[in-house]
Amino acid sequence: MLPLTSPLEMQFPPVVRFGDGTIKTLKDWVVQKGYKAPFVVADAANAQRLDLLGLDTFTCFSDVVPEPDIPNLKQAVAAAEGCDVVIGFGGGSAMDLAKLVAVLVSQDCVFEDISGPHRALPRKVGLAQLPTTAGTGSEVGTRALVTDPATLSKVATESVHMLADLAIIDPALTMTVPSRVTAATGVDAMAHCVEAFTSKRSHPIIDNYAMMGIELVGRYLKRAVDDGSDAEARTGLALAAFYGGVCLGPVNTTSGHAVSYPLGTRHKLAHGVANALIFPHTLAANAAVVPEKTAKVCHALGFEGGSNEAVLAGARAFCESLGLDMHLSAHGIPESDLAEMAKEAHAIRRLLDWNPVDLSVDDIEAIYRAAY
Ligand SMILES: NC(=O)c1ccc[n+]([C@@H]2O[C@H](COP(=O)([O-])OP(=O)(O)OC[C@H]3O[C@@H](n4cnc5c(N)ncnc54)[C@H](O)[C@@H]3O)[C@@H](O)[C@H]2O)c1
Ligand SMILES: [Fe+2]
Repeated sequence: MLPLTSPLEMQFPPVVRFGDGTIKTLKDWVVQKGYKAPFVVADAANAQRLDLLGLDTFTCFSDVVPEPDIPNLKQAVAAAEGCDVVIGFGGGSAMDLAKLVAVLVSQDCVFEDISGPHRALPRKVGLAQLPTTAGTGSEVGTRALVTDPATLSKVATESVHMLADLAIIDPALTMTVPSRVTAATGVDAMAHCVEAFTSKRSHPIIDNYAMMGIELVGRYLKRAVDDGSDAEARTGLALAAFYGGVCLGPVNTTSGHAVSYPLGTRHKLAHGVANALIFPHTLAANAAVVPEKTAKVCHALGFEGGSNEAVLAGARAFCESLGLDMHLSAHGIPESDLAEMAKEAHAIRRLLDWNPVDLSVDDIEAIYRAAY
């Protein structure tokens, strides 16, 4: 854990608007900036309600695949030709594609030239992000994840040029998120906060955002899952997702995300569901090394930690209370794949190197078996 005097750089979109009805400000922003050819990247659910954007003219790429892959990105970039501003309208899948489209359109380069850290060229077009799930926090971040179908791994691309000019977080947009997606995305937001909070590079500034996010999820996630029309709960979760996004920037996630990635890339589990299945196990695996922080996480989520067993049982019960089946076997994961998945997860050093405990391939396989 870093001391208070450790240097930290935080980057945000220059304009972040939060609150019910803020979507109505998008049109004026587009007009003021002089954009004439907006290109909207929307997932299937949001493509049904493009009128909410209030724009007079625009084109839309509505074929966003949940957990998008490189071919899906390439389709979106081709469709964006000639635009002057990209607008991400959807969950993390749409927003991540929007980020990459914005740095690839009208440039003499392809995804392979910019993937990984800090290789993208300055954008030639504007970028606005409007999240419609309360999960990824992608709207305020510099990273985007797409799956490489050849290796079945998530390729993380990061660049300051992928930071939006404008993020509009309008919690009313999340009211239509189905219960199951609400649970999954809410756990994702919480996992961003928890993993940053317990990371080896956790920082006191970010710790505060992390704890606020975890407390909001503890207070509101079950409420929103049980009653999607609970506006206060939806707003609390939109804020938690934003705080999670703040945590991702300078600190980022650790073992929870790394161990859950193969569930999404190899077996197509939704990102948040994969996070939920793994979260109790990595929280418990780290508990002995970061006991005070783990106790705070447990308390904020409504249970008391203590022993590894108590942490594991409490976190699992928390996820189950959201209606999630917490067995890998119930999600179509073949047992024969666990060893290969463990090797793949272990190779995600960009995350695992910051986990408070060094997890071996065998440790990760044991987590999969315990979660099976
Ligand atoms: N950039 C980052 O920092 C970051 C962080 C975490 C996750 N991610 C990535 O984000 C993706 C997951 O994003 P997600 O969890 O938001 O899911 P998602 O974007 O895949 O959306 C999940 C489903 O919810 C639907 N949906 C979205 N908004 C809706 C609404 N308001 N009403 C009804 N349905 C709605 C979508 O159409 C989709 O079917 C993954 O690819 C993951 O890797 C990125
Ligand atoms: Fe995530």
